[in-house]
Amino acid sequence: MKRVAILISGGGSNMLELVASMTGDHPARPVLVASNNPTAAGLLKAAALGVPTTAVDHQPFGRDRQAFEADLQRQIEVANPDILCLAGFMRILTPGFIQRYEGRMLNIHPSLLPKYPGLHTHARALAAGDAEAGCTVHEVTADLDAGPILGQARVPVLPDDSETTLAARVLTMEHRLYPAVLRRFAVGDLHPVLLLSPPAQRGQERRSAATGALAGSRPPD
Ligand code: GRF
Repeated sequence: MKRVAILISGGGSNMLELVASMTGDHPARPVLVASNNPTAAGLLKAAALGVPTTAVDHQPFGRDRQAFEADLQRQIEVANPDILCLAGFMRILTPGFIQRYEGRMLNIHPSLLPKYPGLHTHARALAAGDAEAGCTVHEVTADLDAGPILGQARVPVLPDDSETTLAARVLTMEHRLYPAVLRRFAVGDLHPVLLLSPPAQRGQERRSAATGALAGSRPPD
């Protein structure tokens, strides 16, 4: 059974979906929810589900990222996780921290990477007039939002979409994508997960299964 630590900064809706998915025959269990924000609402939600929590406030450390990360790592190591899931964790991690967990740290990003790494992804998709948007789960490497892709979910951009309505549609797919990717990753299956928001799902998935390949993903061993 794999041990999973989840890192959050805010409300933790993705964290809740991950925790809810890790039951029954799932190959992993949550052992810790950690945050850089002691007042993150997600910490209370995780505690209410009986998941151990911890917080290391990054603010007192100012620009000393290494010192903040050293404290955070000490807390994480107490739980001895096999896998780290970044779920709305809004601190950029240093290469030193990433190296320690390389190959076993995942992140969810609200765009169809490699498009729109960084912030304000929905506003940028709308400004570009994109017909589709979505989210990506990828392995975390020292290149921000550029690690091997493990899954993507696509949604249509609607003519009257605002940043808020598009973000809500993408978030719904995030909640399906991240648990699906984690279930595969926990058994060492790196085949990318591809999700489409209904109704186009069935037909498109048949075609995708035929083509198989997903851009930017690591070829399965
Ligand atoms: C999500 O949209 C995630 O993709 C982004 O931050 C948001 C966090 O949401 N990185 P939540 O805290 O999981 O609700």
